[in-house]
Amino acid sequence: MNAAPDHLSGVEQSGATDDSLQHVHEHLLHHKPEKPHGYSATPLLLLGLMCTVVFFGSIYLAHYSARFDPLAYNENAKPSSGKIEPPVVTPAMLGRRVYNNTCITCHQTNGQGLAGVYPPLAGSDWAQGSEERIIRIVLHGLNGPLTVSGKEISSAMAPLGTVLKDDQIANALTYVRQEWGNNAPEVKPETVARIRAETASRTQPWTAPELLKLGN
Ligand code: HEC
Repeated sequence: MNAAPDHLSGVEQSGATDDSLQHVHEHLLHHKPEKPHGYSATPLLLLGLMCTVVFFGSIYLAHYSARFDPLAYNENAKPSSGKIEPPVVTPAMLGRRVYNNTCITCHQTNGQGLAGVYPPLAGSDWAQGSEERIIRIVLHGLNGPLTVSGKEISSAMAPLGTVLKDDQIANALTYVRQEWGNNAPEVKPETVARIRAETASRTQPWTAPELLKLGN
């Protein structure tokens, strides 16, 4: 028997052949660890995913199924040709509310006021005239004699600047300028804001001659 080279001598001595060693190595390499008992992340994740899908699916159905009512839900319905217009709210419509809450007690529903006590806004040359004047009237009030559409009146209107916000004053005046056959341009909240700032130091109500000096 020939002596084996030194580095093989141990293997030779154990009686292992090349083939059996190969077999042992392959076995070791392919050996997988035992499955852990009781817990594995993958099925839990899948379960969670399915719950989420069912959850959002239910929300979707609740919103869009129309309870499967054939009258409400018709999958064959053609989109209607008529356009659906969003409701339009104009400044004058908003102003009507302010007017009905604040101005109506004196100037009345029909804008006619009360003869000798409250001047009319309908057909009024003041109401349809310079916005510089009427904004000041609502902000700080008006005292003393004035002529409205040719008729003299001497009374007093209380200031409303602390009660009403800029847009409420603007909208109310826009309403007054465009109701009862009146026809004058809209009053913008920015204009009220500007005049409020310019007249911030004003504590007394205005008088008609003062306002008439303002021009247009
Ligand atoms: C408490 C009663 C009263 C209320 C409320 C009132 N006014 Fe007046 N208003 C008067 C009186 C009175 C005058 C005239 C004052 C004078 O004779 O100096 C007047 C004058 C006016 C004028 C100028 C004159 C005219 O007839 O065109 C306008 C414009 C006006 N008011 C608008 C309004 C608006 C808008 C409101 C609501 C935001 C309002 N008023 C709320 C009593 C009132």
